[in-house]
Order: sequence, then C-alpha cells, then structure tokens
Amino acid sequence: MRKKVVAGNWKMNMTPSDGAKFAAELAPKLNTDNAEAVFCVPYTDIAAVAEAIKETNVGLGAQNLHYEDKGAFTGEITAAMLMELGVRYVIIGHSERREYYAETDEAVNKKLKKALEAGLTPIVCVGESLIQREQNITADWLRMQVRIAFLGIPAEAVPKTVIAYEPIWAIGTGKVATNEQAQEACAVIRQLLTELYGKETAEATRILYGGSVNADNAKALFAMDDIDGGLVGGASIKPEFEKIVNGY
Ligand code: 13P
Repeated sequence: MRKKVVAGNWKMNMTPSDGAKFAAELAPKLNTDNAEAVFCVPYTDIAAVAEAIKETNVGLGAQNLHYEDKGAFTGEITAAMLMELGVRYVIIGHSERREYYAETDEAVNKKLKKALEAGLTPIVCVGESLIQREQNITADWLRMQVRIAFLGIPAEAVPKTVIAYEPIWAIGTGKVATNEQAQEACAVIRQLLTELYGKETAEATRILYGGSVNADNAKALFAMDDIDGGLVGGASIKPEFEKIVNGY
C-alpha cells in the first residue's frame, strides 16, 4: 500500500511570521495517519515554520535546491543547508522553474541525485503544456521528462522519490484535469517506471497530481488508482488545505 502524500507548494507567498502563524494553526488539525502532509515553504520561512510545526507530524519541504555542495552560485541553496534546518522534502523541476528560470531536464536529474544523496525526499514535477496536449504528445512528453530526470537513479532509490504530474494548463488556472485525464497521465508514468525498474518498484512509488486541486475536487482525484495524493498550490495557503488532507 502506498501512503498518500499531500504537499502544499506555498510558492512565493507568506513572510516568515505569516507562514509560522498559518502553519501553527493548520498543522495540528491535519490527520497524517492516511496521508503524509507537507508544507513546501519559501527558503526564508523554513526556520519559522519548522518551529511552528515541530510538535506535529507535518513534514517540511523546500521548493528548490542546487545540485552542487557549495561554491560560487549566488542566490542558491544546498541540500545540506536544507537538511540542517529540518527540511525533509524538496520540489524539483516545477514547471515555473523550468519556464522562468530555464531549468532543464538535465538540471532536474542532477538535483534529484543530490536530493537523494542528502536524504531528502524529492518531489519531481513533470507535465505537458496545453499545446502538447492538443498535439497528442502528452504521454511521449511525460515519458521523456521522467526518463531524463531518472537517468542513473538505481531502482532501490526510486520508491524514495515522489513524482508529481502537473499539467501546465491546469496550474493556477482553476482548470483542473478531469479525474480520467489525471489518472491516465499518472498511469503512463507508472508504466514507464515498470519498464525501467520493474513492477515492484513502480508499484511502490508515489505519483501525485497537481493543478487547481481544491477541497471540492481532491477526494475524487486522489481516489484514482494511480494517483497517490496531490501537490497543491493556491489552496495550500488557505484553511481548505485541512479538508484536502483530511478529506478521505
Ligand atoms: P495550483 O494548485 O495553484 O494550480 O498550483 C499547482 C502547483 O503548481 C503546485 O505545485
């Protein structure tokens, strides 16, 4: 049985004090028996939110990391820096980073290796644009993104990763994928993992859906066979996140 994961991606929202207040109110209400609940917060909020949730089972995540251990990379953050503050999850390859910061599949692969080496749980994001969906290349695109992200990753490490299918056209648009579209895409990813690593590994790996998840649609999405939870943006910084985590 795969334990569900519901991760909130706060994106560039909340100051440390706002984030700590929100997290302190919300975290004790989250039922982590059925699902791992995670707050992926801005770097500057990490220390304050870590303190706010320390008595709870809610996990702490970051939204990015660098693939080197140290050096002249102004503005970047290493895996060790995150680990020391209690971060245990990290989003890698979000479509916003790919689009606005030119993050490539090769960089995603390096970051994935670094996160695993450090003991972080990576949440690797993949997803097609609207044009790609209309061109009927969604499955090929997802397969390519996952294949490159996982180059050189051994089978035993794969279940320690989480993959998030986030169709770009559904992110922040209020236009959620249908349950069937989301299921179909997550099944494509699991099928690829089966081809690359075998059935046992594929069955043990969590695959999430992200894109306009809210308290009204989460339950049905997360009930689909190959959807093991969600990566939630806008609704993760609202009280409704409680319902998304506890709602099944
Ligand atoms: P929304 O839930 O706001 O559409 O964002 C999804 C997302 O990008 C999570 O990483």
